[in-house]
Order: sequence, then structure tokens, then C-alpha cells
Amino acid sequence: MNAVPEHVSIIMDGNGRWAKARGRERVYGHVEGVESVRACTEAAVEAGVKYLSLYAFSEENWNRPEAEVNRLMELMMEAIHNEVKTLLDNGVRFVVLGNRARLSDKLNAAIDRLMEKTAGCTRMTLIVFLSYSGKWDILQAMKRAAAEKGAEGIQDMDIADFDQYLVTAGIPDPDLLIRTSGEQRISNYLLWQCAYTEFVFTNTLWPDFRKPEFRAALETYASRDRRYGKVK
Ligand code: FPP
Repeated sequence: MNAVPEHVSIIMDGNGRWAKARGRERVYGHVEGVESVRACTEAAVEAGVKYLSLYAFSEENWNRPEAEVNRLMELMMEAIHNEVKTLLDNGVRFVVLGNRARLSDKLNAAIDRLMEKTAGCTRMTLIVFLSYSGKWDILQAMKRAAAEKGAEGIQDMDIADFDQYLVTAGIPDPDLLIRTSGEQRISNYLLWQCAYTEFVFTNTLWPDFRKPEFRAALETYASRDRRYGKVK
């Protein structure tokens, strides 16, 4: 049996379908999705998870209709304002990772403020991936490593050295990746970091994924046999 995963990551999917099934606008699904973010954050803290990461907005998501992109960014701003106290009360450090150059100055400033406020929290780290994609991460890491080390220095790099250039430097790779809504793909998420991650796919749509569903995924993880390519 595996213990509680140190790092749980979630591809939150199905907000649009959840809203459509109720005859509502897609954004209504995102609003309900924020409630699931809160529930899963609490459930993760309660279970003793040390890192919870969420794929909130991909580099590809910029291609969605402008109104939906704007609403998602607004929701992020609102969540940042509304959740400060809950995060501090629960000892949760807040971190945003991704291509932050594409975010508005206003959102970046709000993110920085919340990251600073919660910097001393040690019970759990909540990582929100915003404007992130796995291929972008690997490419930016390669460029930074090349700029710092030069062509010869790069020849001496090993995998652990390369890890330090990814935006996830210092964060353990996910032990468990959950994807909701029945889709079974990685969608350009943590490509390098998921090399040995256990995947749990569920048909539940993200707005319906709350504490019981989160705990059930932890139980599924506990029953998995992790071998890392070795023989046991
Ligand atoms: C996927 O559903 C969901 C998203 C792209 C956005 C997730 C964002 C939130 C839940 C809100 C804010 C997050 C935080 C961290 C406060 P979809 O729209 O792709 O659904 P569909 O596949 O049914 O169309």
C-alpha cells in the first residue's frame, strides 16, 4: 500500500459540459468549479498532502472566446481576494507557475501579493498552473540552461540538473494525477514531471468533484503498485 501522496495534481475538466447539461453558460461551470477547488484544497490539507497542484489555464486556453478567457481571469482575481484568510488559517502557501508574462499586470500584482502573504505557510503548498504548458516549460528550461551554462556546460547536465530549470524546481514530481470528466489524456500538462506519476481518471465533471471524490482518488492511489520500472 502506498501512503498518502506527497504531491497530488489535478487536470480540472468538464466545467463547460456541467453548465451545458443545466442549460447555462459555460462560465457558470467555472464558478462552480471554484467551489471544487476550495473543497479539494481542504480535503488535501486534511489528508496530509504536502503539494496540491491544479491545471487552471493552459497556454492553449488563450484561444478560447475572449469573453470566456476574461471571465476565467476575473474568477482567478476574485478567488485570490476571497481565499486569503482560508489559506492563511489552513497554513497553505500559494504559488502560481506558468508563463506569467502573458497575464495582466493587475493579476500578476495580486498573485505576487498573495504569494508573499502566504510565503511562511508550511502545512501545504497550493500550486496553480496558469498559462502553462509542458512543452513551453521544457523549452524555457532549455533556453535558460543554455544561456547560463553555454554549449559545453550543457553537455555535463544530468536529469536532476535539468529539473532545476523547470518552473517546478524544488517541487517533487506529482505522485498522483487526477483528470476529471472522462477524458484520458495529458493535454500538454506536466510532461517531464509525470514520468512516474500514477494516473486516476474519473467520469465526474469538475464542479461535482468534491471531498468524497478526492478521498476516493487517494484510496485508488493507495492500492497501486509503484515499481518505477524495477522488479519488486
Ligand atoms: C476545464 O473545463 C476547466 C478550465 C479550463 C478552467 C478551470 C478553472 C477554474 C475551476 C476556476 C478558477 C481556478 C482557481 C484555481 C481559482 P472546460 O471548460 O474545459 O470544460 P469542458 O471540457 O466541459 O468544455
